[in-house]
Amino acid sequence: MSSAYDTLLDATIRHLEDLQAGGVRHIAVSPDTLKALAQPATPAVPSARTRMASPANQPVASVPAQVRHPQPTNIPLAVEPPLPLAAPAPAPTTAPKLTPEAKAAAFAALRERVLACVKCQHLASSRQHVVFGVGNLNAELMFVGEAPGADEDEQGEPFVGKAGQLLTKIIETMGLQRGDVYIGNILKCRPDTPGQSAGNRKPTPEEMQTCIPYLHEQIDLIQPKVIVALGATAVEGLLGKTLGITKLRGTWKTYRGIPLMPTYHPAYLLRNQALHTKREVWEDMLQVMERLGMPISEKQRNYFSRA
Ligand code: URA
Repeated sequence: MSSAYDTLLDATIRHLEDLQAGGVRHIAVSPDTLKALAQPATPAVPSARTRMASPANQPVASVPAQVRHPQPTNIPLAVEPPLPLAAPAPAPTTAPKLTPEAKAAAFAALRERVLACVKCQHLASSRQHVVFGVGNLNAELMFVGEAPGADEDEQGEPFVGKAGQLLTKIIETMGLQRGDVYIGNILKCRPDTPGQSAGNRKPTPEEMQTCIPYLHEQIDLIQPKVIVALGATAVEGLLGKTLGITKLRGTWKTYRGIPLMPTYHPAYLLRNQALHTKREVWEDMLQVMERLGMPISEKQRNYFSRA
């Protein structure tokens, strides 16, 4: 079987597993796709895992990768018991290493899809910009936040408002530039606040579930060495519902084989000016720097020191 076929199959399997790990039980499949799947050359739709193991995998060229149809049919993703509330992280990523050109092309294609997304119609109609993400596609370090706020919606870039300026300061204090890392969000559109001219709201579980596959694809392409999840929503989006951020922060978790450090959201730091809270975030960043093998100066080590 061609490597292009294997890559496509792997990507499809990972996408389905991500959806499933996010709690999705059914996917919409258009009548055309169902018909294509029922062709004699194609075996009946097995579960993603069975397909991965099956030597009888058939070419999928006739099966559209993305089909939008007015009357799709819902088919079960797999017959498995429901996931617990605290969903474990999906299986480690098996994304193949791409050439820089292939990676840039895949990222550009993903960006196009995300910018055109109207899956959450209420958000698509209220947004000014889709906030895809920004930074180095080869970053070793990736920061994941919750969702764009008003400033980000206006500028189309994540973390550019007050919280973003603080994040930039944290990144620079680590000895990096914003352009060295990649910054993304769980949600690519600003959560709408109908009837309010200002203010933010937390994304709903449905919005998170709808949007999270895009972030999974971004992470699969970037393959960072460490992910920093900024705040409870970022942790929940990536790992499922677990403990509160106060309990989680500072303790290494794993997202698909990638070390993940949960820490407080910079907006929380702005609201809570206590020195010990800033120190906690900085201690989390020191752990990240150590994990990445970055040099740490005495000055950096002693920021917010108790002395
Ligand atoms: N808060 C977030 O979580 N993300 C942004 O992009 C901005 C603020």
